[in-house]
Amino acid sequence: MTASVGELLRAARQRLDGHSPSADLDARVLMAHCLGKPTSFLFTWPEHIPRDSEARQFQEWVARRVAGEPVAYLIGRREFYGHEFLVSPDTLIPRPDTELLLDTVLDSLSADRPQRVADLGTGTGAIAISLALARPAWQVIAVDTSTAILDLVERNRQRLGAGNVQPLQSNWCSQLQGPLDAVVSNPPYIPDDDPHLEEGDVRFEPRTALAAGSDGLADIRIIAAQSHERLRAGGLLALEHGYDQGEAVRQILHDAGFIGIETRRDLAGHDRVTLGRTPPGDTDAQ
Ligand SMILES: C[S@@+](CC[C@H](N)C(=O)[O-])C[C@H]1O[C@@H](n2cnc3c(N)ncnc32)[C@H](O)[C@@H]1O
Repeated sequence: MTASVGELLRAARQRLDGHSPSADLDARVLMAHCLGKPTSFLFTWPEHIPRDSEARQFQEWVARRVAGEPVAYLIGRREFYGHEFLVSPDTLIPRPDTELLLDTVLDSLSADRPQRVADLGTGTGAIAISLALARPAWQVIAVDTSTAILDLVERNRQRLGAGNVQPLQSNWCSQLQGPLDAVVSNPPYIPDDDPHLEEGDVRFEPRTALAAGSDGLADIRIIAAQSHERLRAGGLLALEHGYDQGEAVRQILHDAGFIGIETRRDLAGHDRVTLGRTPPGDTDAQ
């Protein structure tokens, strides 16, 4: 093959058009990864001729993207909260929406005091590791179900140098010892029969990371009940949920015994994160 970067990109954009909502960006990201260069290289050197192996890899990835595979699974990476995470089809690709959950937790707990925090359903470890890097004095337990996922968390933990993250295999809180200062989770919250599960990139992500019973709230009910038992008095629970689940999640937290319950909205103005605290004891400080 002797086509240049510019020619390969033009052809790829045409193939991706109608199959991806971001054909141009996808083509550039895939090409940059094949070449092992930043995307700025593509603008500077459109006449560069990739090696045969690089061009073949690019054509294969474009074909898989045309068939629907997410770019993050093809290149095995996704940026979240300013850090690059390895991703795998074993778990969810971190979403920008989830950054609100991180901001909420960082705003709600003292930065200086050591805090013992659990991230339930950690996936790539995006939440746990980003919290741990932002707050070196905290100890963050990163919980998920499978060894494959926990191996991925461990690789991300080591690459990003988050020594204060401890991966833990556990069915929600079953293996988790209290007392905790905070529990944070972006759990599965999509109803089992939601048609969005059959559309776009989501088709390639595991159901176990997405769907949670007929109303999408099955895991949130379990997490609220189990975390209440493990949080210290005055401890924080912060949950991400669907844009139309704010009222239901506030009720679940209320029924589980949480107080000071409030919901925060994302940039689109949708209910996205709900938090509450266990009732205070006599000597609790944040
Ligand atoms: C929506 S994904 C969130 C992943 C990651 N925290 C993020 O925000 O990108 C939900 C995660 O919960 C995990 N999960 C599902 N059921 C679980 C259970 N019973 N116990 C622990 N984790 C569970 C899934 O494996 C998946 O990694």
